[in-house]
Amino acid sequence: MAYETILVEQRDAVTLITLNRPEALNALNTKVLAELTEALAAFEADASQGCAVVTGSGDKAFAAGADIKEMADKPAADFFNEDFFAGWNRMVAATRKPWIAAVNGFALGGGCEVAMMADFIIASENAKFGQPEIKLGVAPGMGGSQRLTRAVGKAKAMDLCLTGRMMDAAEAERAGLVARVVPHEQLLDEALQAAATIAGMAPMAVKVNKELVDAAYETTLSQGMLHERRLFQILTATEDKAEGMKAFVEKRPANWKGR
Ligand code: CAA
Repeated sequence: MAYETILVEQRDAVTLITLNRPEALNALNTKVLAELTEALAAFEADASQGCAVVTGSGDKAFAAGADIKEMADKPAADFFNEDFFAGWNRMVAATRKPWIAAVNGFALGGGCEVAMMADFIIASENAKFGQPEIKLGVAPGMGGSQRLTRAVGKAKAMDLCLTGRMMDAAEAERAGLVARVVPHEQLLDEALQAAATIAGMAPMAVKVNKELVDAAYETTLSQGMLHERRLFQILTATEDKAEGMKAFVEKRPANWKGR
């Protein structure tokens, strides 16, 4: 499938998706949403693919936000009637396999929000995160006020949303937004390696681990613990559980079946 605004390639069991509008610092317009949704759905449906990496083209930006030029003259009624930005939620909800955001530069507004939609973020030392929508007279619309607050807590989320300032990679890692910070030139290798490690795990266990960590955001501790125990117990019925434990005892790599 040929895309206009993203690049997609498969590297063994890892799908690499590159946001590719460098002339607009990879700003996220309706076409990007449609194409990213399509690419993640294809990744999800392809049993040979175990994990995806989403990054930005060029050295400057992961994505500098939703496309301001697309939104500038759009009537409020259209935003409302189209339920503008709702497609991003649908895209995330439809993806049960994990994907990593490799943030190579600016991740602002919708760019920061897409990075936070990923299962975790690996950032280059040059990365900069922010929710500067307030400077445009609006507020985050793709989850920034919610996911950022859950990731870094109220104090820093308020600071970033109300002042519109950017935080660098070191501050983002200290705040818990970012899983790893790596030298800029090693970003893609590190993210692809992490993705390959995940893709090498038992596929059902990967989906369950993702689902369980996500559930921690949505539920109480006791319900989350119960959910965890039940899914653990269900995984013990899989062929891959038998194989994984046998392989450990026999000191050899496991040969996963995905069932
Ligand atoms: N939408 C559309 N175009 C954008 C863009 C965006 N979000 N961000 C950058 N661009 C375009 C610029 O207009 C410029 O295009 P032209 O050459 O045609 O003028 C090109 O990308 C390069 O940008 P700059 O010249 O501004 O580059 P810079 O290095 O001087 O500044 C920057 C970089 C600080 C990231 C600056 O571009 C910037 O502030 N961008 C906007 C950031 C922003 O406000 N993001 C939030 C958008 S709203 C949103 O995302 C809502 C939501 O919650 C979903």
